[in-house]
Amino acid sequence: MIEGFSFSGEAVDAVRSDIQRDGFAYIRHSIPSAILAWLRLECVQVKAAAKRAEGSGELAYRSSLAPLGDFGKKILKEQAFSEVLELIFGRSFEYCEDASCYTYYDEGDFLDPHLDGADNCEVTLLLYLDASEPGPDPGASGLYLTLYGSDGESETKAIETAAEGMMIGYGSRVMHGRKRLAAGEHIWMLTACFTSGGDEVELSSAD
Ligand SMILES: [Fe+2]
Repeated sequence: MIEGFSFSGEAVDAVRSDIQRDGFAYIRHSIPSAILAWLRLECVQVKAAAKRAEGSGELAYRSSLAPLGDFGKKILKEQAFSEVLELIFGRSFEYCEDASCYTYYDEGDFLDPHLDGADNCEVTLLLYLDASEPGPDPGASGLYLTLYGSDGESETKAIETAAEGMMIGYGSRVMHGRKRLAAGEHIWMLTACFTSGGDEVELSSAD
């Protein structure tokens, strides 16, 4: 098995408190380099076969999606599950393969405010694999995950999106979205969904 995810006790505490306060936490430089390299490779390999995903109804969005390959699935099932989710939330989760994929946002792509479906995506894990530099203004750049109040209109926070980091949180409870990506911007990520497995696991610090 290649080097896994690893967090200091301090980092775990900070993530837990961010999730408690905002519903989401961003953990910068948290994808181990070997995992990042292999996921990037797979993400780039399957991009040619990615399908446009576009909606203009109740939820407006535009991006491209491709199914995970063997490596992406393996990381989610064998490592992210135990080394990230159980560690942070202190309970077990089930990985929803149907709701997990590689997601590509390029110039002009966006995702309007929404909640993820609690039945297959109680907790969301976004592994940011490749991204351009975010512009300084969160209102004019798609390289931020914007969090909203329950009305879906008042913006409560914009969390920078940078490669090598991960976002984790209650996508089913806190409205979130991504503004339209500006010229030259891109963010390619692994988007994974989990639901509660129900079993409590012992809460502990990572180190
Ligand atoms: Fe979402």
